[in-house]
Amino acid sequence: MSKIVVIPGDGIGKEITDSAVEVLKTVDKKFNLNLEYEYHDAGGTAYDKFGVPLPDETLEACKKADAVLFGAVGGNKWDNVKAELRPERAILGLRKGLGLYANLRPVKVVDSLVGNSPLKPELVKGVDLVIVRELVGGIYFGDRCESEIKDGSERAWDLENYSVPEVERITKLAFETAKIRRGKLTSVDKANVLATSRLWRRTVTKVAENFTGVELNHLYVDNCAMQLCVNPKQFDVIVTGNLFGDILSDEAAVIGGSIGLMPSASIGELTSLYEPIHGSAPDIAGQGIANPMGTILSAAMLLRYSLKAEEAAKAIEAAIDKTLADGFRTADIYSDGFKKIGTEQATKEICSRI
Ligand code: IPM
Ligand code: MG
Repeated sequence: MSKIVVIPGDGIGKEITDSAVEVLKTVDKKFNLNLEYEYHDAGGTAYDKFGVPLPDETLEACKKADAVLFGAVGGNKWDNVKAELRPERAILGLRKGLGLYANLRPVKVVDSLVGNSPLKPELVKGVDLVIVRELVGGIYFGDRCESEIKDGSERAWDLENYSVPEVERITKLAFETAKIRRGKLTSVDKANVLATSRLWRRTVTKVAENFTGVELNHLYVDNCAMQLCVNPKQFDVIVTGNLFGDILSDEAAVIGGSIGLMPSASIGELTSLYEPIHGSAPDIAGQGIANPMGTILSAAMLLRYSLKAEEAAKAIEAAIDKTLADGFRTADIYSDGFKKIGTEQATKEICSRI
């Protein structure tokens, strides 16, 4: 038996995790995975119920789970909540509390969606890259000051810092990832300006000595942002810090046509968490039109990495490819001539192809 903690969160979180669980139940029947589910609150929903975005009980349950499936958190309803109680604190608290140091964000452009990309088809066809984002360090978790008076003016600050072991750990995982892919690693930093980036670059270069089969290059983050638009096919694995990884992964996600399709795995030493990279989309919550594919593909990553159920993961990925190839489209990727479907029908179409 494997226990999966499911955290729907806010907005469309419930719809998309319901959908992913239904798909998991379908592969479970076929491959006898013996999965069990336990539901917990986090985000604005938890704040409304318990006054905190991440109840202890949720974190404790995740620590005991074989894997965590996460929907999304946040929404304008909680815009005026104090910084330390905002819904986003739930996911940050889970990352820190579970030690989820590496976030893998694959961007694989499906042939049938090439036309949905904002980039020209010839640039996009065949793109297959992974961003490996450091997830529990950097400016996200440094000291900060919301407001202070200095020299007569109000200011705020956030501190970026990285230690050598933090960079080594994420770099090793990135090299391992590149080794079983096309053997190319791009490390992204801002070493022409930032001290943390110079330490990052030195450390990555040192770790590279142990991975001779992998070709390493370094890019400044501004250049990388541009290269993702002009020649995304050059990338195999990209490794970078927390903030740069946040920004570049949204940029890379739209290359595939919609952020709604993009999964992620946040890898920890004890357990790992899987979530789509999009947000809680409060504007469409409850309407049954959200694209569940990013969450379903996250569930496939869960099977692959946490439960070592490769065949079941592949069955889900193939079913999604087939659903798209058969012309079904949720609103975010719909255009004339295709069959428009909502969350529930998307789930059914995918399950029937497993
Ligand atoms: C992401 C999100 C989060 C982040 C937010 C919700 C805190 O944008 O997972 O990329 O910035 O890491
Ligand atoms: Mg983000």
